[in-house]
Amino acid sequence: MENPRDETTAHEPACARVAARFPRGWLRSYVKSKLRRDPIFPAACELLHDSDEPILDVGCGVGLLAFYLRERGCTQSIIGLDVDARKIRHANDAAASRYHDVSFHEQDVQEPIAEFHGNVVLFDVLHYLPLTEQTSLLVRLKESIAPGGVLIIRDCPRDGSLRFWMTWLAEKFAQAVSWNLNTPLHFPTRAQINDVFSESEFAREIRPLWGASPFNNHIFIFRPRARLTVPAAE
Ligand SMILES: C[S@@+](CC[C@H](N)C(=O)[O-])C[C@H]1O[C@@H](n2cnc3c(N)ncnc32)[C@H](O)[C@@H]1O
Repeated sequence: MENPRDETTAHEPACARVAARFPRGWLRSYVKSKLRRDPIFPAACELLHDSDEPILDVGCGVGLLAFYLRERGCTQSIIGLDVDARKIRHANDAAASRYHDVSFHEQDVQEPIAEFHGNVVLFDVLHYLPLTEQTSLLVRLKESIAPGGVLIIRDCPRDGSLRFWMTWLAEKFAQAVSWNLNTPLHFPTRAQINDVFSESEFAREIRPLWGASPFNNHIFIFRPRARLTVPAAE
């Protein structure tokens, strides 16, 4: 995907350019270090780079994925939704006049989402929702994946491992310093995510993606299988 000699869209300079869109201080430092260290951003870029379909970023936070993809040369239209008005404001401020065809909207994704067809991403959001709401959101999102599109989920499966508890602790800390929403946490099991997508309809890949972190992050990739069409009888 990336031409190693093309410095303009390489990972490190892309992270620096996104960070420069945020006000100096802790937010800029957070953005820079998060983009540089979190392997979900280059992994998503790899999966989405060659798709012409638009992207829906559910629980987009301050819009990091959208900006990162643009700086890596992705040109699809990108819509971000998040319930946190503060983060949506930061995202819109950062996007202003540099990132075209990128829009961010304040929305609780437990409420109905406007009709969309394309690629869908859901990074570190599910565990903020009660389990029944998680299933209901996934059922709705799977209808939004275009044929040839992909749904990418990143979350921390509840498996009782040391890594799981490290993630839980880090999330509690982020809530305590009031960056993340202070709601009860409901980390799903791997099966609770996987079972929403029938084997006959979706190909899948589920694997750890924790990079150098001590966390239990996994990536879940679901692609609709091509439907066999039976020719109509003459
Ligand atoms: C840990 S942050 C991840 C942000 C972003 N996906 C990223 O990877 O940088 C989780 C995000 O989910 C959002 N969120 C949580 N519950 C939500 C809901 N019901 N509707 C929309 N967004 C929600 C939070 O406001 C927060 O921005």
